[in-house]
Amino acid sequence: MPFTLSTMSICSIEDIAAHTKAPFWFQLYVMRDRGFIERLIDRAKAARCGALVLTLDLQILGQRHKDLKNGLSAPPKPTLSTMLNLMTKPRWCLGMLGTKRRQFGNIVGHVSGVGDMGSLAEWTAKQFDPQLNWGDVEWIKKRWGGKLILKGIQDVEDARLAVDSGADALIVSNHGGRQLDGAESSIHALPRIVEAVGSQIEVHMDGGIRSGQDVLKAWALGAKGTYIGRAFLYGLGAMGQPGVAKALEIIHKELDLTMAFSGHTQLKNVTREILLPGTYPTA
Ligand SMILES: Cc1cc2nc3c(=O)[nH]c(=O)nc-3n(C[C@H](O)[C@H](O)[C@H](O)COP(=O)(O)O)c2cc1C
Repeated sequence: MPFTLSTMSICSIEDIAAHTKAPFWFQLYVMRDRGFIERLIDRAKAARCGALVLTLDLQILGQRHKDLKNGLSAPPKPTLSTMLNLMTKPRWCLGMLGTKRRQFGNIVGHVSGVGDMGSLAEWTAKQFDPQLNWGDVEWIKKRWGGKLILKGIQDVEDARLAVDSGADALIVSNHGGRQLDGAESSIHALPRIVEAVGSQIEVHMDGGIRSGQDVLKAWALGAKGTYIGRAFLYGLGAMGQPGVAKALEIIHKELDLTMAFSGHTQLKNVTREILLPGTYPTA
């Protein structure tokens, strides 16, 4: 079960490679600075990342109402409410004081003129390239040369173009609902994408997976892989690293139990027959 490291992560690709023997993938955003993208791809290759996950649905940043309301910013602004909030989290503050990693490790120090959080925010805001097109995907596939997974597909036309691009898999995803308010849920979009292209490309899904039962439902509707975004972060927020392990353990156990109660011991034999008729979306 590999984990995926983001372009925007705190730890750099090299940092992760030096600290884990577990397989990991790298998630790439296409930015205007193509030289930076080339270097990122080469760094991911050198770190032996097992796959490149290319995110296609963040070329324009959505209007994130909660972020606006909370005043989320990088670097954080020292407002009265931020200060009061920090005072209620002494353990986290101590941990942050002790860490070397407070930047976006894949970017700071790897782009000229970006040396701190202030210049980073300015650079990032200008970098997401709204002109991303299928020619860029082809260029990235060629440069990478390994397994390529396209993340953020929600409709059949794009799924067909993903097949034509030669990608190895696609992820039906609406970015966890963080981009477009009112976007269709991925579990709803999944069956029609599986029906259209499931025999030509591996179809995966993310969004709203909170339990092992959610994993099994997605599998039953044709997803050959599922991902979690928030589920492990909830574990992290509650208990730190052991909380992440606990979250994965809970999901795994629920998956096992639900399979058993559905009369299955092998995931490969599970089909949509385990689902109650009329309770799931169809193509
Ligand atoms: C805090 C946070 C940060 C995220 N950062 C990225 C990112 O850097 N790249 C990316 O492709 N998706 C990112 N996502 C989206 C996830 O990869 C994933 O699509 C989504 O969270 C799945 O939905 P879920 O949270 O309901 O599991 C992020 C999601 C969250 C909650």
